[in-house]
Amino acid sequence: MPEQRRRAVPVRGPRSPGVAPRREVAERAPRPPPAGDTIIKVEDLRVFYGAVQVLKGINFEVREGEVVAIIGSNGAGKTTTLKTVSGVSELLKSVRGKVTILGNRVESWPAHRIARLGVAHVPEGRKIFPNQSVRDNLLLGAFGRKDSEVDKDIDEQCRRFPILGERRMQPGGLLSGGEQQMLAVARALMSRPKVILFDEPSMGLAPLIVKQIFDIVRQLHEEGRTILLVEQMAFQALEIADRAYVLENGTITLEGTGRELLENPRIKEAYLGA
Ligand SMILES: Nc1ncnc2c1ncn2[C@@H]1O[C@H](COP(=O)(O)OP(=O)(O)OP(=O)(O)O)[C@@H](O)[C@H]1O
Ligand SMILES: [Mg+2]
Repeated sequence: MPEQRRRAVPVRGPRSPGVAPRREVAERAPRPPPAGDTIIKVEDLRVFYGAVQVLKGINFEVREGEVVAIIGSNGAGKTTTLKTVSGVSELLKSVRGKVTILGNRVESWPAHRIARLGVAHVPEGRKIFPNQSVRDNLLLGAFGRKDSEVDKDIDEQCRRFPILGERRMQPGGLLSGGEQQMLAVARALMSRPKVILFDEPSMGLAPLIVKQIFDIVRQLHEEGRTILLVEQMAFQALEIADRAYVLENGTITLEGTGRELLENPRIKEAYLGA
C-alpha cells in the first residue's frame, strides 16, 4: 500500500469556511482497497493539431481508487491528454492510438457518450456558468441523470462545500476563484462519476486556496474515488498521488509512485526547485 494512504491526515485548522470537515465524509464512506480494476488505459496515444504533433505516443493507466497525477510544465500536453480521454473535440485535432475506459475503446466517441460511462472532467479554468445560479450550475452536472436523487445530491454537495449552500441562488460568477473551483468539483460530483479528471485545479489561486483545493482532492481520494489529475504544481500533486507520470513535450519521460518521484533527483531539480 502506498505510503501516503497509510498516513493519517489530520484535519487542519483553521478550517476553510468553504470546506466541510473531511472526517464526516470519510466516516460515511470507507475506502475500498487500493488499485482495483483498470478504469482508464491509454496506449501509444498520439494527438495532432493539424500537422503539429502534441502527444507523441504516451502510455498510462488509472486503476480504481487511485489518484494518478500527470505533471508537466506549460505546453507539455496535459490539457490535450485530459481532453482526449474525455472526448472533447477540437478543430484540426486528430487522435491515434488507444484510449480504453471501463473496457470500451473510446477514442472516436463524442464527449457526451464518454461522460455517460462515468467520466467527469473538471476543466482547466473551472468553466462554470457565471450567469447561472450555483444551484443551476450543479444541476448541469446532473444532466443526463434520470434518477430522483438529484435534489438530495445538491444538498449533499452544499454540505460538503457550505459556501455553495450559502450562495445557492446567487450567480456562480460572484464566487471567488477558489469557490468557483469548489463549484466545478461539486458539479463534477453531481454526475456520480466513476472517475474524475482534474485539469490544473490550482491554476490562478493563492497558495492558501491551492492547499484547500488539494485537501479536497485528498478527501475525495480518502472516499475511495478514482482521480486523474494533471498539474504544473508538481510537489502538491506528487504528495497526494499514488502514482504519477512526468509529461515533457508530449512524451512521458518518467513514472513511479508519487513518493518515488518526489525523491527523484531529476524531478527535484527540474520541478521542485531543489
Ligand atoms: N486547439 C489547439 N489547436 C492547436 N494547438 C493547440 C491546441 N490546444 C493546444 N495546442 C498546443 O498543444 C500544445 C500542448 O498544449 P496543452 O494545452 O495540452 O498543454 P498543457 O500541458 O495543458 O499546458 P498548460 O500548463 O499551459 O495548461 C501547446 O503547444 C499548445 O499550443
Ligand atoms: Mg493545460
